[in-house]
Amino acid sequence: VRHPAEPWRIKSIESIRLTSAEERRAALSAAGYNVGLLPAELVYIDLYTDSGTGAMSDRQWAAVMLGDESYAGSRSFHRFEAAVRDYYGYPHVIPAHQGRAAEHILSRCLIRPGHHVPGNMYFTTTREHQELNGGVFHDIVIDTAHDPDVDLPFKGNVDLAKLERLIDEVGAEQIPYVSLAATVNMAGGQPISMANLAEVRELTCRHGIPIILDAARAVENAWFIKQREPGWTEHSVAAVLREMCELTDGATMSAKKDSFANIGGWLAVRDPALAERARNLVVVYEGLHTYGGMAGRDLEATAQGIEESVQEDSIRTRVQQVAYLADRIAAAGAPIVRPVGGHAVFLNATAFLPGVPREQFPAQTLTCALYLDAGIRCTERGAVSAGRDPVTGENRYPPLELVRLTIPRRAYTQSHMDVVADSVIRLYGQRGELRSGVEFTHEPETLRFFQSRFRPL
Ligand code: F0G
Repeated sequence: VRHPAEPWRIKSIESIRLTSAEERRAALSAAGYNVGLLPAELVYIDLYTDSGTGAMSDRQWAAVMLGDESYAGSRSFHRFEAAVRDYYGYPHVIPAHQGRAAEHILSRCLIRPGHHVPGNMYFTTTREHQELNGGVFHDIVIDTAHDPDVDLPFKGNVDLAKLERLIDEVGAEQIPYVSLAATVNMAGGQPISMANLAEVRELTCRHGIPIILDAARAVENAWFIKQREPGWTEHSVAAVLREMCELTDGATMSAKKDSFANIGGWLAVRDPALAERARNLVVVYEGLHTYGGMAGRDLEATAQGIEESVQEDSIRTRVQQVAYLADRIAAAGAPIVRPVGGHAVFLNATAFLPGVPREQFPAQTLTCALYLDAGIRCTERGAVSAGRDPVTGENRYPPLELVRLTIPRRAYTQSHMDVVADSVIRLYGQRGELRSGVEFTHEPETLRFFQSRFRPL
């Protein structure tokens, strides 16, 4: 893949610094071998997440100045609500400060102890809120989503037989909704096809089960549908996005991804009674239903970001930048998840560090090695992220033990991607020397990956 020239130029810059190897060793040790606990100024290229880390446009910064900070009925809320309605199509829009806040409100509204919530693979915060409300998560993604080497266009698809079996087993009335992510983060940013979504819709309609979309990266999913799915190539990304939403009953959104917001999110639904319940909870947990934990300026910047998110030269540049990095790494033989998703390159840590046993967390070990090598910060997406089983208390070892090199939107250049590729390739060359991993010294009870500490073995 050639790296396409960006459809923008740089108006403002932020300095970053490459530290010495000595500084990095000391910093990583002080951070308990968890790159998430590093001071950010000691990170050179920060690929920890694409969430809230994108560069806002000049128009978004101008929108910040236009933010209406009225406590109630802010003009900025109305612009925000109109943008969500226009681009996603749901009539009732409830602002929330970020994606997990929307998940919190939704899960509290719909999930009761004993409920079962099927999803196309788990996401950390999404499952956490389902479980906190007494729900049991069921993975209904196609089996191949768990295989990093199978190259299929829509590895985020639902296995309809798995969903049907679950409905038969527990009964439709015990399934408050089907949770569908587009794209599937933990599988490598894999999209779901429109055809599969329509099939899930057909099946769930027959049983009266709603579908809730996790829309954090739905624009990227729409781009892949346009690129890969027969019948959709002639449609605009905006039209594909609207059609995806049309097949669902509501969505939770982290506007920190597709919409280029530094902070923001929403819950949007079709059912007015559910919207009413959600508004009642939002005033308890987030703020008034016309700001939901966001400042007026954030509502305004998000509304502008939503409009920019479906611009096709912008989304093309993003996806191809990720593909460029992936191609350089793959060309050197290093193992990555196939196909390459929209927001990140995922390294297959078990294949990358075959000498490190699963119980010593090879993905966590690799995040440390990448930081030490070139000051690059990336994310563990393996057993540490998966946490413990709430019933048995045992570590969950998901089939995928990955390291995610997550690319912030509009923030880094091709030269930065080359620095990252060079470092990954260098480490892959040294993999024989890395034979021991890490063990926990501190393990938080929930979402442990964010704040856990380790010691090298
Ligand atoms: N759903 C998906 C698919 C996500 O990737 C995230 C966040 C959320 C929900 C929660 O949204 O962070 O705004 O509360 N993902 C970030 C990441 C944290 O790094 O993948 P949030």
